[in-house]
Amino acid sequence: MGLGFRLFARPIVSLMDSEKAHKRAITSLKLTSKFSLGRFVLKTLYRPKKLPCDSLGFKFDNPLGLAAGMDKNADALIGWQSLGFGFIEVGGVTEHEQSGNVKPRMFRSNKNKALINRMGFNNVGSLKMASALEKTPKLDIPVFLNVGKSKITEIKNAHLDYGKTVKRCSKYVDGFIINVSSPNTPNLRDLQNRDDIERIITEVKQYSENKPILVKISPDLANEQILAIVDISKNLGCSGIVATNTTTSRPNSEPPMNETGGLSGEPLRVRSTEVIRLIADHTDGSWPIIGVGGITSADDAWEKITNGACLLQIYSTLVFNGAGSIKQIINGLEKKVRNEGLSGISEAVGLARR
Ligand SMILES: Cc1cc2nc3c(=O)[nH]c(=O)nc-3n(C[C@H](O)[C@H](O)[C@H](O)COP(=O)(O)O)c2cc1C
Repeated sequence: MGLGFRLFARPIVSLMDSEKAHKRAITSLKLTSKFSLGRFVLKTLYRPKKLPCDSLGFKFDNPLGLAAGMDKNADALIGWQSLGFGFIEVGGVTEHEQSGNVKPRMFRSNKNKALINRMGFNNVGSLKMASALEKTPKLDIPVFLNVGKSKITEIKNAHLDYGKTVKRCSKYVDGFIINVSSPNTPNLRDLQNRDDIERIITEVKQYSENKPILVKISPDLANEQILAIVDISKNLGCSGIVATNTTTSRPNSEPPMNETGGLSGEPLRVRSTEVIRLIADHTDGSWPIIGVGGITSADDAWEKITNGACLLQIYSTLVFNGAGSIKQIINGLEKKVRNEGLSGISEAVGLARR
């Protein structure tokens, strides 16, 4: 299993360049999970307790998923499943293959437990993504596709770019996340206005084979803008919202916090939970929210659930705390459910609102 596996299993906090460390981790997970012995080892080491829940028309073994951006090209899907995730969001993928911004473009602040990235949707493009997904054996857990816009596509044609990707990949995934909230593609976040969002959702719906469509939003929008997007998405038949993407705001300006890009990890946690609560209150808890942003522990996860998220995702804590954080968070949630005398995790959703 080699060095790569150990790198993945351990927190990726060496002095190695962040992006290189990330690549190695994915490669080692891919190699390890290729063989049944490797999958057995991963499951033995990492498998969490069961914490079943129903949402978006699926039965999940647990509510914790892999956030977008970690496995941009569907390289290690079986590996993520073996590590115990309840679902996976693969991508972001764009219609056209693109190399993203110049390197370095991923920075880590151990002090702030935060990452800053300005990757710029580096990905293999929708054709190669469809082929990678086609070659992956059917997983036991739902796989959602995070869809972005190619840099070369003009903003006025953005909806066609999203639609093309969904059309090419729809057979192979269980649902779609429309990403209009990454800060690293010029003008992408401008698509979070009424007309553009309507156009994109309408186009994506044509090709989604009636599978769930969710919209991922930025934490940097004003609350009224967030609620406007929620209303539009809901009215157009979307299945829920992903809150939130990374933020361009910073808790301080010490290097590398002064780097341009989207910030994730601990400093994002409070605003992300605030957005979840805002949406849950607005929709009276009746609309699925996938909560993501700064979750490191079962306590953080519980806070998001009790404020209205029915599913959760993580990215940054995998980098700082390793793959063991999946089990730690899920088992911690399971314990809280038991201690509270609840019948299941679904009963905890929105508990803090009641
Ligand atoms: C390097 C990196 C790349 C990301 N790429 C994407 C992406 O392609 N699409 C997307 O919607 N979110 C992307 N994200 C945002 C994450 O999915 C997530 O919303 C964010 O990191 C907050 O979660 P966390 O605090 O647990 O990391 C990316 C995040 C990082 C750190």
